[in-house]
Amino acid sequence: MSLWSAARHVEIFPLPVRGRLAWLHQVAARHDGGMTSLPSSRILDPLDAPAIRWGVLAPGGIARDWTAALHATTASRVVAAGSRSLERAQAFAAEFGVERSHGSYEALVADGGVDAVYVASPHSQHHEHALLALGAGKPVLVEKAFTRNGVEATAVVEAARAAGLLAVEAMWTRFLPHIDVVRRCLEDGVLGEVKAVEADHGQLLYPDGPRRLADPALAGGALLDLAIYPISFAHLALGGFTAVRATGTLAETGVDASETVAVTGAQGAIGTLASTMLAKTPCSASISGAAARLEIDGWFYRPNTVRLVGLDDREIDRYEPPSREHGLAYEAAEFARLLAAGKTESDLLPLDETLRIMHVLDDVRAQLGVRFPGER
Ligand SMILES: NC(=O)c1ccc[n+]([C@@H]2O[C@H](COP(=O)([O-])OP(=O)(O)OC[C@H]3O[C@@H](n4cnc5c(N)ncnc54)[C@H](OP(=O)(O)O)[C@@H]3O)[C@@H](O)[C@H]2O)c1
Repeated sequence: MSLWSAARHVEIFPLPVRGRLAWLHQVAARHDGGMTSLPSSRILDPLDAPAIRWGVLAPGGIARDWTAALHATTASRVVAAGSRSLERAQAFAAEFGVERSHGSYEALVADGGVDAVYVASPHSQHHEHALLALGAGKPVLVEKAFTRNGVEATAVVEAARAAGLLAVEAMWTRFLPHIDVVRRCLEDGVLGEVKAVEADHGQLLYPDGPRRLADPALAGGALLDLAIYPISFAHLALGGFTAVRATGTLAETGVDASETVAVTGAQGAIGTLASTMLAKTPCSASISGAAARLEIDGWFYRPNTVRLVGLDDREIDRYEPPSREHGLAYEAAEFARLLAAGKTESDLLPLDETLRIMHVLDDVRAQLGVRFPGER
């Protein structure tokens, strides 16, 4: 067995042993030239995924982008739209060539021609709407943040598991090709032991942006819309957090406007994460290890370039995504593949990780002093 394959077999050992043998990853990476190039992405072309028939629940802003991406780059189609207003469902259907329009979410989830439901309502409604779809026997792709809080998320996961139905959080970044390059670098120890992660996500969305973001009743604020991206990215890079410290500012309406979240990983690595809806920030991300670092430039959460940079700050290699367009199609394609294979969750974002991240968001919100009305 080569040193490299020996290092890969370290994964069969329990965590404490893995920690003691972490150096083996670094030695192996140097030994077989692992640090001289980036691995390829294992994410397949969305066009090759099986075709399924989608129902869109809540045809708002993201539902439009998602449907456009689905129709442009996959074989799947939205066959039904469900809105609280029949007129809005019909307008959406006309815009995207959708066969059926429903004037209620109940009618949408009861549509026998729908294989799966995409829940695209505000965070405050995800719990109710995901349960509605699952209750009607429909697998669900639920927009991020999965729900308002961990309690609601647990209820949705338990309902999906009890019904044996596929449920996935639509944290689309997790399913993108460049993030799989990051995932493989972490799996293969290309960076050596990870020591630090940085990521930010700031957009100018307050006070003149969408009303939803300013409204506590709709679980608005920067955290669930924006900060969830750097937090999810760091969670992937560090494999979870042992400590979370947050500071931030609140908007006049009581939702969080900005936050800095400092996290610690199991091996003592640090994460510095920032988010705001008061300014456009670079939206870049990096993961620094003992041997090298990865850098993703602005809009790290969209299909993007990944650069492998050495300790001397020189670029060693770079990965370019097959396309920078229609990134939302990748999560839909992953969902279609899972559904066709009879799976009930995705290995790229397991439901237990969705739950752990929801509890981190709860923790951050508690530290900021933000509570949504009517929250249990
Ligand atoms: N993946 C991404 O890149 C991305 C980007 C933006 C947003 N998102 C996520 O997508 C979700 C929706 O965001 P959005 O920007 O699309 O919101 P939006 O434009 O406001 O659309 C949400 C839709 O939800 C329906 N809805 C149901 N109950 C509602 C209520 N009580 N108040 C208001 N609308 C209600 C409305 O449709 P009807 O009344 O017609 O049924 C509305 O059009 C959020 O979870 C957000 O975080 C994801």
